[in-house]
Amino acid sequence: MAKARKNRIICVANQKGGVAKTTTAAYLGAAFARLSKYVLMIDSDPQCNLTYSMELDEATQEKAIENNLATIYESGQDVDSCILRIRDNLSLIPASADLVMTELTLDSSPDALSSEPERILRKAMTPLRGRFDYTIIDCPPSQGMLTLNALVAADYLIVPTLASVISLTGLERMLEQVHEIVNGDMALNADLKLLGILLTRFRRDRNAELEIESKLRSVPEEFFVFKTVIPDRSQFGLLGELKAQTGRHLMELSMVSYSLLPYLTLAMEIEKILTPSRYSATRP
Ligand SMILES: Nc1ncnc2c1ncn2[C@@H]1O[C@H](COP(=O)(O)OP(=O)(O)O)[C@@H](O)[C@H]1O
Ligand SMILES: [Mg+2]
Repeated sequence: MAKARKNRIICVANQKGGVAKTTTAAYLGAAFARLSKYVLMIDSDPQCNLTYSMELDEATQEKAIENNLATIYESGQDVDSCILRIRDNLSLIPASADLVMTELTLDSSPDALSSEPERILRKAMTPLRGRFDYTIIDCPPSQGMLTLNALVAADYLIVPTLASVISLTGLERMLEQVHEIVNGDMALNADLKLLGILLTRFRRDRNAELEIESKLRSVPEEFFVFKTVIPDRSQFGLLGELKAQTGRHLMELSMVSYSLLPYLTLAMEIEKILTPSRYSATRP
């Protein structure tokens, strides 16, 4: 029998677009895979950016048209038939353009698809228990039912955000939604934990961003901000590198690549957070 894996399900969400959710899902997935973890990425955004960024070959793209997250929602398709292997230890459940309709149906008449429309993804993922160390779900820039399903299916949430005032209001709304999922009357997912807020596209040369960083770090009792910060690459003229290397080359990136390195640091920080310390463990 295959070794049971850690089975940590991480949702990357923020209802704001452009905060590097998809970039984080792709690079963090690649980083964990480079650390020899078994990784599954799930593209839960109808814009399919994560799926496109994997630059699937034609045959795999064909397969993805018939077997993807939309078919899981719409016709209860077996989750295994939707898993695409990108590398030995890196897999993807792709999105397709059909997910636009799925999202509309879920948001307008949720009961059309299931009597428990918030739990469709969670239930569909049951057969995957113990098969992956990390499952990373990339969410759309909305607080609709696709994001809710991801939050109900997940153990942990990462909220990427820019260090701008406008992003902070988005962050507040996100945290309210999480509070409702964990503590609300419906008890949708009492186990969901906010793993951390991730500052992305960060510029240390801007005082306003440094101020927002220290403001966020000043309330550790409310939420945790990852020590790892993802620097903005465009200021170094490295945006081309970021774009060119999100594809199937992701796994061939040098370990010290400017784009991968911060995500490797983040992956190691997460491993450390989630591994109980030998010293703090209570003895039976
Ligand atoms: N560290 C970074 N430095 C510069 N640009 C970045 C960085 N991370 C992401 N981007 C760019 O920001 C844009 C939005 O990123 P994306 O991951 O698509 O955000 P989201 O999924 O939240 O909408 C993309 O054009 C992406 O290439
Ligand atoms: Mg995205």
